[in-house]
Amino acid sequence: MHLMSEPVLWTGDGSPHSARFNDRYRSKSGGLAQASSVFLAGCDLPAGWFGRNRFTVLETGFGLGLNFLATWAAWEVDALRCGRLHFVSVEAYPVAAADIVRSALTASCCSMANPEWLARAQALAQMWHDLKPGFHDFDFVDGRVRLTVAVGEVQTMLGCLDCQADAVYLDGFSPALNPQMWSADTLRAVALHCRPGTTLATYTAARSVRDGLERLGFLVQRCSGLPPKRHRLAAVFLP
Ligand SMILES: C[S@@+](CC[C@H](N)C(=O)[O-])C[C@H]1O[C@@H](n2cnc3c(N)ncnc32)[C@H](O)[C@@H]1O
Repeated sequence: MHLMSEPVLWTGDGSPHSARFNDRYRSKSGGLAQASSVFLAGCDLPAGWFGRNRFTVLETGFGLGLNFLATWAAWEVDALRCGRLHFVSVEAYPVAAADIVRSALTASCCSMANPEWLARAQALAQMWHDLKPGFHDFDFVDGRVRLTVAVGEVQTMLGCLDCQADAVYLDGFSPALNPQMWSADTLRAVALHCRPGTTLATYTAARSVRDGLERLGFLVQRCSGLPPKRHRLAAVFLP
């Protein structure tokens, strides 16, 4: 495990790209559009946290932290939000703080004009440093929003995690280019953190992922995707 920040390549159209995996960090339609229409909507959020004291989201692939920032933003503006939001994310190759801010600035056409959105990204970036392997907690909003980043290989870190997820975001790079994030063992390790009723969302509709989730007891729905993707998956754990 290296301790340098993972380099992010910013392409001509302003998209973040990984040289290690030769894939983009977020949808061509925009990071914020993907966070809300694939991950939040696929997990029935914000409705799903209504009436709960505490709600835990488990993510595979923290990347540029956009899903975290979008989930925190949705929580903050929701009058019916849960008391506490815990966002737990696994990441083997943490990026630099400057890339997190740049990603937030370019996440949608209106990101730059939203002061609260930028303030959240800057709050995260201020606490962010070269993360060593292991667990790192970051508290925001007087501790009502907690981010835990588990730095290390996905299966190892899922095996060490002590949390029960109410919602799961599967957000590795594409299954063809990043198979470890979608293997049957990884999906099984995710399912071990789920309870009956845990919701799950991902941008891919790859057959192997869909079948793998169904084998573990998820009820999987193939929904229309965010262009250019034709489909995405939304699921509920009903073992
Ligand atoms: C598509 S990006 C995630 C984007 C992120 N969710 C966001 O909101 O910005 C996929 C992430 O998975 C991470 N990753 C890939 N393989 C991994 C592995 N085997 N273990 C842990 N993380 C991995 C990559 O480093 C990358 O940051």
